[in-house]
Parts: sequence; structure tokens; C-alpha cells
Amino acid sequence: MYIKEVAKKLETSTRTIRYYEEKGLITPAKEENNQYRFFNDEDLIRLSTILSLREVGLPVEAIHSLLKDKDMRVDDYLNVQRGVLYEQWLELKDMIQTLDLMTERAGKGDSVTNDLFGLAKQLKTLKAMRKNWQDKWNFDSQAHDYDQSIKMHGYKFNVHQDYETALNKVVDTIQLNSGDLFLDIGIGTGNLGSRFIESGAKVIGVDQSEEMLAVCKEKHPEIETRKGHFLALPVMNMQVDAIVSSYALHHLTDDEKLLALEEMDRVLKRHGEICIADLMFLNEEHRQHIMQSFREEGNVEAIGAIEDEYYADRSQLVDWLEKHDYTVETHQFNSILSMIYARKHVENER
Ligand SMILES: C[S@@+](CC[C@H](N)C(=O)[O-])C[C@H]1O[C@@H](n2cnc3c(N)ncnc32)[C@H](O)[C@@H]1O
Repeated sequence: MYIKEVAKKLETSTRTIRYYEEKGLITPAKEENNQYRFFNDEDLIRLSTILSLREVGLPVEAIHSLLKDKDMRVDDYLNVQRGVLYEQWLELKDMIQTLDLMTERAGKGDSVTNDLFGLAKQLKTLKAMRKNWQDKWNFDSQAHDYDQSIKMHGYKFNVHQDYETALNKVVDTIQLNSGDLFLDIGIGTGNLGSRFIESGAKVIGVDQSEEMLAVCKEKHPEIETRKGHFLALPVMNMQVDAIVSSYALHHLTDDEKLLALEEMDRVLKRHGEICIADLMFLNEEHRQHIMQSFREEGNVEAIGAIEDEYYADRSQLVDWLEKHDYTVETHQFNSILSMIYARKHVENER
């Protein structure tokens, strides 16, 4: 097939096809006598793949690497791209919401400059918060040994004490209907999310670590794994029936945790449930008390571990949920591990 016919068939331009050729993504044969490009079936499949991936925004360089390496999987690239698009989409949403507020204030006339500047500043902070979270623990490197590390005993401080009890409690607490869509955020190797599959739920596991997701997929192929993070969940508004999360939220600062709750609220359906089992203190006073006991015991291992992460203040999370119309129940497993269960109400329903 010649270039014009290919362009017509694939609904693109000859210029676009030549551009991909220049970038080395396709190399059609050239006829000896006139140097016309001739595309065989394989070229056509390759070109339609390139066009499809470009349509969902995959950069040309990424497509180039993908097509060069036979071991690379298209779905891995699509997964990363979905995360990127959700981040961009949420940033646009934040900008439009701010713009609407600015318009409202500007309409009121008089000295609005300060108001506008204040709103712009808030937006800037929000954008930075969504973008700047970093994995300083390098979870990719922990993925393959993670399940083994949970079983370790004999330390002066064991963060995984009551791990199994906590995960089971989450399963017992959530009211599941067959066919429900569950989201497990920070799913890691799938130890919590997989427990809902047996009861007939469909589970999407979100994690920022591609290696954790790979291990999860290998252990539990039924789980749909999506790359993404707490602050830009790769899920549409009001899409899921329940959200669970274990041992993940304490990698976010207190402000980030509240934004994470906002994100959970965005994707959760009416009457949906949230259940979080995580490392947290009951409140600031409790944190001080526990830290003081570790200091008195000389337990530097515990102090170091706690200070390396961001154990939540449970009262702050409960407060946020109650203010946003959730009915909340809590459970404490030990001095550093709690569960929060929250059910979403429809506005003015109670
Ligand atoms: C300690 S593991 C817990 C894994 C699993 N939920 C469990 O209970 O065994 C923490 C997981 O949370 C993920 N995680 C940490 N911060 C995250 C974030 N901001 N967004 C998404 N995932 C995150 C890590 O990549 C890691 O897989």
C-alpha cells in the first residue's frame, strides 16, 4: 500500500506518517525504481499502534522504546500514561474550580486583588502538593521481599504486630455486596485487596510503585493494578463502592493525608465505605505519651522508625470525615495501629 492509501485507511495525514518515519518509528520499504514508500501489513499494524498510543498522549520517545524492545508490554506503558493523564486532569479541575471562585469574587467589584492573589496562592500550594510527593523509602526495591519482611519477629519494635488481625478486621467490617467495585490504595503486594476477590468483588489496586504492582499482579492476576497515588487517584468520580487501605497512608504528611481523604471522597459512590488500617496515634497527646515511653525504655529503634514516617493523628482524620458527612467508627489494635471505618451519606439525608 502506498503512503496516500495508508493515510486514508488510518485516517491520518501523509505528513504525520513521514514524521514517524523520520523519528525511526517505522521503516517502510522503498521501491527501487521510484523510491515510493511501500507499506506491508506489518507496517500497517505498527503504524496503527503508534497512532493509537499517540491518541492517548504517549510521548513519541516512549513509543519508540516500546516498539524497539520486544519484551516491553504495552499495558505497562498505558498504565503509566493513565496515571499521568489523571494527574493532568485533576490539575485542570483544580484550576477551573479556582477560576470559578475568582470570577465570582471579581464580579463583586471593588478591591478584589488580594482575594484573587489569595486564591492563586492556594491553588499553587495544591498543585505542588499533588506533584511533589516522593517515595523516599524506595518501595520498588522492597517489592520482592515485602511479604517476607512482614513475617519477621524478635525486634524491639515490630510495626507489623497485629498485621493479620487488622487486615481481617477490615474484611469483616466492610459490608460487601457481590459485584462491588473495591479500591485498595497503596495495595503493595495485594495482601488486603485479594481478600475481597473471594467474596465476589472486583478489585482495583492502586500503588505508586510499579514493582509492587508487578508482584501483586503475579500473585493475584484477578486484581486490576493501576499506577497512581493517593493524591491523584487514577479513577473516575463516584466510581467505587468501597475503598480500603492498609499500612500505606502513613507515608503522607498530615496535610497530604487530608487531600488523600478528599480524593477518596471524590471517587467513592453515595453510601460508599472507607476502611483504613494504619499506623496512627489517637491524637497528639497520645503520640507524646507513647514517644515518651519509648524514650524512657531507650527504644531507639522505635523512635527512629516512627520519626522516619508520618504516623497519623487519628482524631484529625475522623474530624475531617465527620465534617464531610461520614458516619465514623474506630478500632484500636495496639498503641500504634488503628482502623477507621467511615460510611458516606448523601447530603441532608441524616
Ligand atoms: C508498607 S506497604 C503496604 C502494602 C499493603 N497495603 C499491605 O498492607 O501489605 C506501603 C505501600 O503503599 C504504597 N504507597 C506509599 N505511599 C503511596 C502513595 N502516596 N500513593 C500510592 N501508594 C503509596 C507503597 O508503594 C507500598 O506499596
